[in-house]
This record gives sequence, structure tokens and C-alpha cells, in this order.
Amino acid sequence: MHSSNGVFIPVYPSLRPTELFAAPSEHWKHVFPFNRSSGLWTFSGRVALHAGIQRLGLPPQSTILFPSYFEGAEINTLLASGFKLRFYHVDRNFHAALEDIEKRLDDDISALYIIHYFGIPQRLAPILALCRRHGIALIEDCALSLFSSDHDIPLGASGDMALFSVYKTLPVPHGGFLVSKMGFPNVALHKPPSRSTFFQTADLLVQHIKTQAPGRMLLERLWTTTENLRRTLAKTTVVSGSTEWDPRLLCYSASPIVGRLIQAVKPAEIVRRRRNNFTFLLSMLADTGAPAITELSQGVCPLFFPLLVNERAQFRQALSARGIGSVSFWSKNHSACPEPFVSAAARWRQQLVEIPIHQQLHEEHMERIGHTCAELLNKPCYRTT
Ligand SMILES: Cc1ncc(COP(=O)(O)O)c(C=O)c1O
Repeated sequence: MHSSNGVFIPVYPSLRPTELFAAPSEHWKHVFPFNRSSGLWTFSGRVALHAGIQRLGLPPQSTILFPSYFEGAEINTLLASGFKLRFYHVDRNFHAALEDIEKRLDDDISALYIIHYFGIPQRLAPILALCRRHGIALIEDCALSLFSSDHDIPLGASGDMALFSVYKTLPVPHGGFLVSKMGFPNVALHKPPSRSTFFQTADLLVQHIKTQAPGRMLLERLWTTTENLRRTLAKTTVVSGSTEWDPRLLCYSASPIVGRLIQAVKPAEIVRRRRNNFTFLLSMLADTGAPAITELSQGVCPLFFPLLVNERAQFRQALSARGIGSVSFWSKNHSACPEPFVSAAARWRQQLVEIPIHQQLHEEHMERIGHTCAELLNKPCYRTT
């Protein structure tokens, strides 16, 4: 077994205190989506979707074609904005099934919603052609694909609008971003409550301390014993990254601290690191048959390394016992999604586990993650093939 040396590898990047005082830099401003003059900062991805969809000018109560594999916050946002949904299938490579989409089009459909899963591009050329042919809008959900490109076309640049969940890729307490071909949306968003920003920034700082060996055990104990208190306090304010639907979020933009923290961001370096880490894991784990994505085309900036495993909860526990964080995204269906779409996405909802590959992880972290996953996947109970 590979020792965790007492340090924890979180699934998302954490916040180093020095980043609070980073020298101002403009790297991030020149990179899509932040280089768009009509771009809008919001509290999170769902807020960007809510603001952007109003600006698209779709017929009220029209129907949006929506994929069968989703988080659920997108659905709640579209329903809260007054739209109806019609689902389409996603194929085994996480691609929107174009023939299925074609079959479901009629005069009620005003837009096609696509999600770039894990940062991997949908097939944009035929999707755009389909939207033009049928005169419908394209909404690109880039919640998982900040800084990702399809070769040299940034994800989010093709659609009529695109939404981003900035805090999933970067160590900021919250933050969503909207780009829209319809220009700046006519919405007034407010600064989020300071209590929310404080809690979520503190959480990111604690995650960082957990990645450093000394003091980790003590801190972990303190963090565990105060969990109930922290949960209660969090309920008194708004939080990003929650699977619960909280319409209070919809009126908030991003706090000025996000503007400060983003100064430390070097997009090209982030893409390079994430790609290297992903490719390293792929080379170590391809033979197990567990990686859900088996190639990385040029320009892709992956969010996680997705694995398909049996006994997912135990697998995650075994990783956690070795100091490796993971997430199991999207375990639940949404009541708006009917059969046969529920069954079609069931395998992913039960078996996908997302492994960290973020920009703060170096060779020694990736070796530890790779060896641990390989060792676990050697056990027949975790294998799906
Ligand atoms: C695909 C997708 N779209 C939209 C959202 C909503 O983004 P946020 O949680 O930043 O509001 C999420 C959240 O996880 C998501 O996964």
C-alpha cells in the first residue's frame, strides 16, 4: 500500500494564503471567456444560466431539448425560468446523440442545451449546423469546462450563450460567468452576503492546510467536530456548489475577493497541468478498462479523471482512507426526467467516480493516485468489466 504521508489530496484546488495577496496580473483577462466585453460575473453557473436565458429572447414557455445525463441545478433553473424540457439521449462516449435530437425536433423547440461533460467537447460542428438548419438557439453548458477548447475553438464560444462554474476549476469561494451573443444581460445582480464569502473562503483555506503534512490530524478533528455547527451556519446564508435548489442565489454576482484571487490564475499553465495529470493516469489505468474517457483531444482542459467502478461507495472510502479525495457527481435523477432516459443514465449515476487531476497536483501526487487506483482496481469487486 502506498502511504498517504499524512497529506490529503483534495478533488478541487485549494486556496494557498499567499494567493490572497497575489501581485496583480492580467493573464486571465486575455483568455476566453474572460476576454469577452459582454461577459458577466455571477455567483455560480446556475445564476449565469438564469441571467443569460432571459436575454436570449426565446418564446415564453417554449421547449428546450435537454440531455438525459445532467446535474439537476440546470433543470431547476430552466423550469424556474418558465421553460419546458424535452429530453434526448447521450451516447456511451458522452456525446449528444444527434439522430435522436433530430427525431425530437418540432415547432415547440426553441433551443438545444448541451453539456461538455468533464471538459470534453461535444461535436460542435454538426450541432451548430443542426441548430442553424432548424432555427433554434444553442446553449453551451461549460460548468465543467472552463479553459477547455475543441482544438483552437474555446468551449462556450460557439453557442448563443454559455455558462461557466468558475469555482469548479479555480480556487475561488464561488463564481459563475456568462457569455452571450445577445450582449450584456439586463439584470441587476448584488454582491453576495459577506458571511457566505467568508465561510467558503475559510473552507478553501482549510482544504489547503489539509494538503500540508503538519497539523493535519488536529485540524481534521476540529473540522469534524464542528461539522454540525458549520452546516447550521451555512444554511443561514447562500453557498455555491450545493446540489440543493436555493432560488436565493439567483440575485447574486461574485464578491470582489473573486476578482482579487483570479489575479493569480495562469490559464495556459492550468490547462497544461490538468492535461499532463490526466494523461499520466490514463497511461497507468487504461488496461483496467475503468477510465470512462480514453482520449484527450487537442485543447481539452479536463476537470476530473472519471472512472467506472462497482461498489463505488467502498471504492471512494478506500481512496479516502489513503488520503485521496474524490466525488461521485450526479447520483440522482430529477423528477422532470422520465423513462427511458432514467435507465439510460443509470449506469453513470451508479458507477462514475471522479478522481482529482487539478493544477495543484504534481508528479508525486499523481503517482500516489495512480498506484492507489491501480491497486484497488486489481480487486475483482471494483471491476465493471
Ligand atoms: C453541468 C452543470 N451545469 C450547471 C451547474 C450549475 O452550476 P453551479 O453549481 O455553479 O450553479 C452544474 C453544477 O454542478 C453542472 O454540473
